[in-house]
Amino acid sequence: MCGIVGYVGGRDACPILLKGLHRLEYRGYDSAGVALVGADGALNVYKCKGKVTDLEHFLEGKDLCGSIGIAHTRWATHGVPNDVNAHPHYSESESIALIHNGIIENYRVLKDALIENGYTFRSSTDSEVLVNLIEYVRRTNDCSLLEAVQQALKQVVGAYAIAIIEKSNPDEIIAARQSSPMVVGLGKDEYFLSSDAASIIEYTEDFVYVNDGEIAVINRHKPLKVVTLDNHESHVDIKKLQLSISQLEKGGYPHFMLKEIYEQPGTLIDCIRGRINADTYEVKLSGVIDNRSKFVDARRIIFVACGTSWHASLIGEHLIESICRIPVEVEYASEFRYRNPIIRKDDIVIAVSQSGETADTLAAVELARKAGAFVFGICNVVGSSIARATDSGAYIHVGPEIGVASTKAFTGQVTVMAMLALAVGREKGTVSEDYYREVSKALLELPATLTEVLEVGGQVKDLAKIFTYAHNFIYLGRGYNYPTALEGALKLKEISYIHAEGYPAAEMKHGPIALIDAEMPTVAIATPDHTYEKTASNIEEIKARGGKIIAVTARGDEHVRKSADYCIEVPVITECLMPIVVSIPLQLLAYYIAVYKGRNVDQPRNLAKSVTVE
Ligand code: G6P
Repeated sequence: MCGIVGYVGGRDACPILLKGLHRLEYRGYDSAGVALVGADGALNVYKCKGKVTDLEHFLEGKDLCGSIGIAHTRWATHGVPNDVNAHPHYSESESIALIHNGIIENYRVLKDALIENGYTFRSSTDSEVLVNLIEYVRRTNDCSLLEAVQQALKQVVGAYAIAIIEKSNPDEIIAARQSSPMVVGLGKDEYFLSSDAASIIEYTEDFVYVNDGEIAVINRHKPLKVVTLDNHESHVDIKKLQLSISQLEKGGYPHFMLKEIYEQPGTLIDCIRGRINADTYEVKLSGVIDNRSKFVDARRIIFVACGTSWHASLIGEHLIESICRIPVEVEYASEFRYRNPIIRKDDIVIAVSQSGETADTLAAVELARKAGAFVFGICNVVGSSIARATDSGAYIHVGPEIGVASTKAFTGQVTVMAMLALAVGREKGTVSEDYYREVSKALLELPATLTEVLEVGGQVKDLAKIFTYAHNFIYLGRGYNYPTALEGALKLKEISYIHAEGYPAAEMKHGPIALIDAEMPTVAIATPDHTYEKTASNIEEIKARGGKIIAVTARGDEHVRKSADYCIEVPVITECLMPIVVSIPLQLLAYYIAVYKGRNVDQPRNLAKSVTVE
């Protein structure tokens, strides 16, 4: 989704802003722009439809002077992606420029009022309404820019992260946040602003996360000041964040997605590090230790999540119900938040989110907290909004995930859920010693297992070439691997634009089997578990109807090989962790099919990495 970058200090702002925009490209966007106040006092706005490289071409030969500026990548909500709707937006008099992430829900009412007061609009965006509202308030009340922003935002309903610069004040950026990420980086006599700390990590390790309802006053000559809409000063809490730049680069891989798939043995080492004792197999999660009684006494656990994180949560449901014997529900955050759900004080709500910024998941967290539930977060991005809004949590520690299609975050989430289930199961006494050791030993061995699994890469690449023709795919799995089938189908549709659906294998006969013909390939997960024989029969049924089958099986499986057209063999580990193993070839299959189809794998059309609007 939209990305914000800002700079004020002693250097040329434009190169810093453009580099920041490149680092935010992963979020998904369709246009980009920059605004700078030059040494001559001119406020220049340059913007265009397309990629940041298109903007760079557009900027050639332009006046790019200025040591203060703001820049933006736009993911269209109000108005088509074009040059005019791109950000930054000038106010009508062109004295103020604004960039905005989020949605101003009451923009029509505000726009009508401004039109009555003589304003005209160039774009179809809600964001231009906001910049003109700020200008109008500033002009009619003869107040400072900060006061104008405070008063204007009080009239706004919706979500926003905004950054504003003004021609007459070339020392200051005003930035405000409500339900959309925003962080200020502190340098020596300079400040950076971004939607994602990772995009400015090469300049500083010191960050201030702006909270909802706060405005950052970023003046090159003054210490950072943070105030509320009512002008109460907030404590400026500086957090240290250490990330290596290499984590933000492709490292020789053609795409971030492929790099992230191959990183998984290493990311799971980071995820498990310090949490499982290699001698005793003891699992220790501080979020569980610190909140032991909450988990032990929980009447129910409700997972709230979106997308891939929702699929991981379905596996979490299996893990927790079977190991901890606590009833679990898995909810789409977007449905949960508007459903008037029953939330009790002895419920635990677990919010799962790679980015920690997904608007619906964040809203579900707020709802659950208001209802008095204990809210636990499973996030990847340290310091993200959901991580900060939850009572406790466990990071998955898999490093920045840049490819839009989530891969290493999924395996990290399931790994954390397995550790959580073991830790809680031990406290509740619902897990046998043998099973506890079996699963925790398998977790410790996971990185080595995934290294083995990744050896199927070449075979999957060849298979992908064969199946590039398909317009539809069905993915089947059961038990722990039903969510894996859903996730495999999601990966394929996200990046190849091939329609794909995941089904519990036994449901085939209740409809989808009607679709089977030679043009509809099926990916069937048939690794050993207590429904293996039944899945093998489902595969026979598909074969009998002329369907093409790619089966994911255990190494050396001869039974399914007889009916499947192609088998991808994987090593077998304890059943509850098989989704982590099986998801690897499914990620690779989606990746290579998308590559053969010439798709933009890391930035697929219309998708955003971090969905910060509803
Ligand atoms: C977007 C991304 C998905 C992700 C989902 C939830 O749709 O493209 O990859 O699974 O958001 O994101 P979250 O950051 O909350 O896990």
